Amino acid sequence: MPSLAIIGAQWGDEGKGKITDYIDETADLIVRFQGGNNAGHTIKVGDKVFKLHGLPSGVVRKGNLAVIGNGTVVNMDELIEEMDQVVKAGGTLEGLRISDRAHLIFNYHKKLDGAEEKYRGNKVVGTTKKGIGPAYQDKIARIGIRAGDLLEDAPLKEKTDFILPYKKDLMSMLESEPCGCDCGTLYEKMKGWRDKIGGYICDTSVLINEALDSGKKVLFEGAQGAMLDIDHGTYPYVTSSSTCGGGICTGAGVAPNRIGKVVGCLKAYTTRVGEGPLVTELSGEAADALQKKGGEFGVTTGRGRRCGWLDLVVAGHASRLCGFTSLAITKLDVLNDYEELPICMAYRIDGKETRYFPASISRLQRAEPIYITMKGWKGWDDTESVVKGGYDALPKEMRTYVQFIENNLNVPADMISIGPDRKDTIDRKKDWWA
Ligand code: GDP
Ligand code: IMO
Ligand code: MG
Repeated sequence: MPSLAIIGAQWGDEGKGKITDYIDETADLIVRFQGGNNAGHTIKVGDKVFKLHGLPSGVVRKGNLAVIGNGTVVNMDELIEEMDQVVKAGGTLEGLRISDRAHLIFNYHKKLDGAEEKYRGNKVVGTTKKGIGPAYQDKIARIGIRAGDLLEDAPLKEKTDFILPYKKDLMSMLESEPCGCDCGTLYEKMKGWRDKIGGYICDTSVLINEALDSGKKVLFEGAQGAMLDIDHGTYPYVTSSSTCGGGICTGAGVAPNRIGKVVGCLKAYTTRVGEGPLVTELSGEAADALQKKGGEFGVTTGRGRRCGWLDLVVAGHASRLCGFTSLAITKLDVLNDYEELPICMAYRIDGKETRYFPASISRLQRAEPIYITMKGWKGWDDTESVVKGGYDALPKEMRTYVQFIENNLNVPADMISIGPDRKDTIDRKKDWWA
């Protein structure tokens, strides 16, 4: 029953889409287990670029089952749009399955997301405004509508009649943009979703567990990253789901003893979108240069990503929480041609050193990074020939940088990514399922 998870080791956008796509060539099922279309996962195959939000990266390759698990939240209108785009771009939907227990995101969630942000004044989270937080609030408050509800007329009507007036009251209280929809219109709209999507809805926990029973290879595709986890991230500057390894069990409906390998997807430097602490953040020209070199602009919102040096306090926190068995280090090429590369080893807070990531935002705001400085390396002209040469063909100083990370985290860097394309990848493991 081989299974493998890919989880972001920082604040998202580490290149999970690329790494998932690379490994899923040998997988049978690819499962999204948390988050929603706040995610933006990029896959580049030659001239084709897929930007996936709610769909698992597995839809890019034919023959895979691509599962949207029970722990996710799904905006059906936007999913349908994304499905159309994927088909136009040459992807495939025959393997798509959506959990009957996944919660739905409605327009009122999106409007409430905006209204809550406005209400926070100068303490905004900087959400994607996709309605993620408000949809998860409804799930926890036991008033959400789930994908499986679309399949049953009477309960669906009953839930709609209850929820919409309630949400309208809440929206007027928060002075949100109003929602023009009435219960009848919303109910009809949901029946439209049933016609288009109903065939994909099933009990995906059974599907995944039966696949594991029969020896199929299951790949769990994380969204966001460990530092955006609702419990373990920089709360309250986080998303509303469990992005770490533990989220797989509840979000896919699999037992802990069915999770095999865990690949930590680690960007060679640090980025985050939205508000919240970022101890190694660069400013001014240095920040602009790294943002430009790395193309650090959000796939979902287009916002510029804040950039900083690699932070091993963050990576260590993520590795402990997720149990990384391998690292996939991405975007090393973006660090080409720097003279020197600082790596943050610890924080100094109120005169004391720590290697552990604090819970307190105010302590994080006072934290100063303690760096060691690595020697930089010269870039190359032809990525293809570097990839052909394998790990040993990489510049010596880059290998030292990689080895330093491996030694510090005590996890092997089994994959090295030096470009956005599927083929710009040095695979040091060969069999990811063994
Ligand atoms: P995800 O959310 O973790 O899937 O990452 P995103 O797709 O939001 O952002 C990663 C960006 O970096 C995308 O534009 C990828 O095409 C690109 N990318 C991924 N790996 C590499 C790499 O090794 N080098 C470079 N230069 N770009 C990469
Ligand atoms: P992928 O999967 C980077 C951030 C938002 C905001 C916070 C809360 O592409 O790595 P939300 O809309 O989830 O309530 O926003 O989380 N965020 C991400 N940042 N990558 C993502 O996904 C993100 N998904 C949410 O910017 O700071
Ligand atoms: Mg992204």
